[in-house]
Amino acid sequence: MALKFHIKTYGCQMNERDSDSASALLIAHGYLPTEDENEADIVILNTCSVRDQAERKAIGKLGIMKRIKAERKHMIFGLMGCMAQSRGEELLKTIPHLDFVIGTDQIHSIPDAVEQILNGTGSKLDLRERCGADTPGIDMHRTDTIKHNAFISIMRGCDRYCSYCIVPYVRGHERSRNPESIVEEARELVRHGVKEIMLLGQNVAAFGLGRHAPNLPDDLSPFADLLKEIAKIDGLERIRFTSPHPAYFNKKLIETIAAEPKICKSIHLPLQSGSDRVLKKMNRPYDVAKYMHIVNSLRALVPEITFSTDVIVGFPTETDEEFNMTRQVMNDVGFDNAFIFKYSPRQGTVSARMDDDVPQDVKEERNQILLKDLEERQCSKNASLVGKEYVLLVDGPSKRNPKRWSGRTDTFKLAVFEPKQEIKAGDLVKVKIVRATPMTLYGEVVE
Ligand code: 5AD
Ligand code: SF4
Repeated sequence: MALKFHIKTYGCQMNERDSDSASALLIAHGYLPTEDENEADIVILNTCSVRDQAERKAIGKLGIMKRIKAERKHMIFGLMGCMAQSRGEELLKTIPHLDFVIGTDQIHSIPDAVEQILNGTGSKLDLRERCGADTPGIDMHRTDTIKHNAFISIMRGCDRYCSYCIVPYVRGHERSRNPESIVEEARELVRHGVKEIMLLGQNVAAFGLGRHAPNLPDDLSPFADLLKEIAKIDGLERIRFTSPHPAYFNKKLIETIAAEPKICKSIHLPLQSGSDRVLKKMNRPYDVAKYMHIVNSLRALVPEITFSTDVIVGFPTETDEEFNMTRQVMNDVGFDNAFIFKYSPRQGTVSARMDDDVPQDVKEERNQILLKDLEERQCSKNASLVGKEYVLLVDGPSKRNPKRWSGRTDTFKLAVFEPKQEIKAGDLVKVKIVRATPMTLYGEVVE
C-alpha cells in the first residue's frame, strides 16, 4: 500500500509554493497526500526563519512531533524550508526523532531522502545550493488540488542583503528562472483552469537582471517583459506578483503595470521605514522621495490602484521621530493593507550586530499605533466604495456563511455576495457594493 505524506507549511507564499511542488514530486513517486497528519507515514515541516516568532512556532512543533513519533515509530519525519537551511545541521544532531533535513535548494531530492530512509541507507542532510533557479520540480503543481488561482516561483534567493533580513543566508543567491519555462508553466496552469497567477520571488522586480545594480535605467526591466509575455496567454484573467523592491521599480515597470489590463491594480511595495536614515541603516537603497515617486506615478496613470506594504517598527536606533515619519508616509500613501513587524534580530545578519536598543514595549506601542491607523483607514476607504461596481474573481462559498459567496476585486478587496445565477469558483462576476465593514465589502450581483 502506498505511504501517505503530510506537509505542514509555515511562513510565506514562497513556502506554500515549495510545499506544493514537493507534494507534486512525492505524488509522482507514488506517495499519497493526506490532510490529516495523524494518519501520515511521512510528515514534513516546511519552516520559516524570517522572524523570531516563526521559528519559535516550528520549534514548538518539533517538540510535539517527538511525542507523536514515540507512538508511531515507523513514521518518517523531515524538515525543509528556511529553518532547515539555517539550523538543520544542529537540529539533526540534537533531535533524535528527526529523520531528514533538506535545504531550500534541494526540494527535488525529498523523494530520494524518503526512499533512502525507508531503505535504511539514509543520507539525511542536504543543504547544498544549486547554481540555477530552474531546479527540477520547481514548475510542478499538485493537479488534484488545483484551483482557479496559482503561484509560480520565478526566481530563487536574494542578493539584496537588507541588514535585518536572513533570507539571503537561507535561500541563497538570487537566481532567475528561464522566462520561457515560466511562460510554459503559466500556460500549463491555464490549461488546468487557472485564471489568476501570482508570480513569486524575494525580489521580483530584479527578475532577469543578474547582478545588475538597483536604480535601473528607465527602459530596462526584464520583469516587465515577463509580465507582458504572461499577459498574452488566452484564458488567463489576472496576474499578481510579490514582492518587488522599490529600488528596481522603474518607468518601464510602472508603465507596463498601468497599460496591461491583466496586471492587477493592487501593488505590494515594501516600505520598511519612512525615515531615510533608517532606510540607509537597513541597507535599502531608496529614499522616501523615490518611494513616493513610484506611488504617485502609478496613481497618476491608474487612479483606482491600491497599495499594501511591509514595515518594521523598532529597528535598532529608530527614534520616536523616525517612527512618526513611518506613520506619516503610511498615511500619505494611504495603504489599503500593511504587514507591520516588530524588529527581531536574526542570527548572522548585519543588524544582529547592532544593539537591539528599542525596548519591547516601545515596539509593541508603535505596532499598535500603526495597526489602529490602518484599521481606521480601511474603515473609511471601504465605506467610500459603497455604491461602486466591481468585477470579482469568485473564490467560492464564504467560510463564515456558505450561503454567501466571496471573491476579490482586481484591487484585492474581498467582497461577499449572494449568488443569483449558476456561478462557480473562477468565474468573473460584476457586483454593486451595498454595504461595507473594515475588512469586507457586501455586494449584489449586477445582471
Ligand atoms: N525583524 C522584523 N521583521 C522582519 N522582516 C524581515 N526580517 C525581519 C526582522 N529581522 C519583515 C520585512 C519583510 C517581511 C517579509 O518580514 O518587513 O518585508
Ligand atoms: Fe530580505 Fe531585503 Fe531580500 Fe526582501 S529584498 S528578502 S527584505 S534581503
